[in-house]
Amino acid sequence: MVEKLGRDAGIACTADNILITSGSLQALDLVNGIFLNRGDTVLIEQASYQGSLNRLSRLGANAVGIPLDRDGLRIDALSAALADLKRRGVRPKYIYTIPTVQNPTGTILTEERRHALLRLAYDYAVPIFEDDCYADLIWDGKRPPALYAMSPHGGVIHIGSFSKSVAPALRVGYIVADWALIARMLALKTDAGSGALEQMVLAEFCTAHFASHVPALTRGLRGKLDTLMEALAEQFGTAAEFDEPKGGIFLWVKLAEPVDTLKLYPAALAAGIAINPGPEWATDKAYAKGRMRLCFANPSHEAIRAGVAALAEVCRKEFGVPERIANVERRASTA
Ligand SMILES: Cc1ncc(COP(=O)(O)O)c(C=O)c1O
Repeated sequence: MVEKLGRDAGIACTADNILITSGSLQALDLVNGIFLNRGDTVLIEQASYQGSLNRLSRLGANAVGIPLDRDGLRIDALSAALADLKRRGVRPKYIYTIPTVQNPTGTILTEERRHALLRLAYDYAVPIFEDDCYADLIWDGKRPPALYAMSPHGGVIHIGSFSKSVAPALRVGYIVADWALIARMLALKTDAGSGALEQMVLAEFCTAHFASHVPALTRGLRGKLDTLMEALAEQFGTAAEFDEPKGGIFLWVKLAEPVDTLKLYPAALAAGIAINPGPEWATDKAYAKGRMRLCFANPSHEAIRAGVAALAEVCRKEFGVPERIANVERRASTA
């Protein structure tokens, strides 16, 4: 792990800075466990991972959403939110971000913005919680260094996982943090350690195959993304807008008015199509009403094409969108 973090994320650490967890979901629970009490405030990207958002609402935390654009978290909006909270006497417990292949938008926070984010977090004395589980799956293989690696004064907790690069069923994730924080998290890790057998399997597999496995996996994913984007353009035409993600396994799609993806979800499911309705992946329900997350990792190219065609049919029946199926014209995306 020390070698991988150094090579891929630019992180210099020792084994004492790493806690292996049962998936990065347990990492989320442990970090929340040491930081959060009911009523606390955290800053989070306006569209974010459902598992993180659900945890925050279950814990009674106040999640303040920060908008994203094509370069990731908007620093101007973060700066304004931090200033506003300070005026009201609120110190957020952390800034949670998925900077490298953001879930669900697929953006990568630029290096310049990473510096600005670290500066702001330092100025306001707010820790950064960096969730990095998609960083291996970038189309061109080039990633900026992790925030943890770039910080000149600490203050970053980094979590990651082998769920996306190798297999989610292994349940092997990790936390990289100062030993003082790891020690507090260990006290909350009540499962007496994560399973050793899957770690041994992973260690053996990764030593021999990780370097060749990841580019092959990423090539396959990129091909499926192309199929998905083509199918959406063909079936939805201008009624579906999206920005091409920089990597990962999801596409974040904005459907035309009056689509409400919370209502589209059950109708699509009845037709055998599973979508993630936007409002479950965002702090701002109005922004997310017409948006959905589509996962393209597991289905075959044929299933993707057939699924998008079936989804367009359901959507047209429910909302009159798209007006015309198989509209080949496509407007430039502003999603
Ligand atoms: C951003 C993010 N963090 C954490 C997780 C949790 O994954 P796992 O517990 O399988 O490592 C996911 C899974 O989708 C995710 O997207």
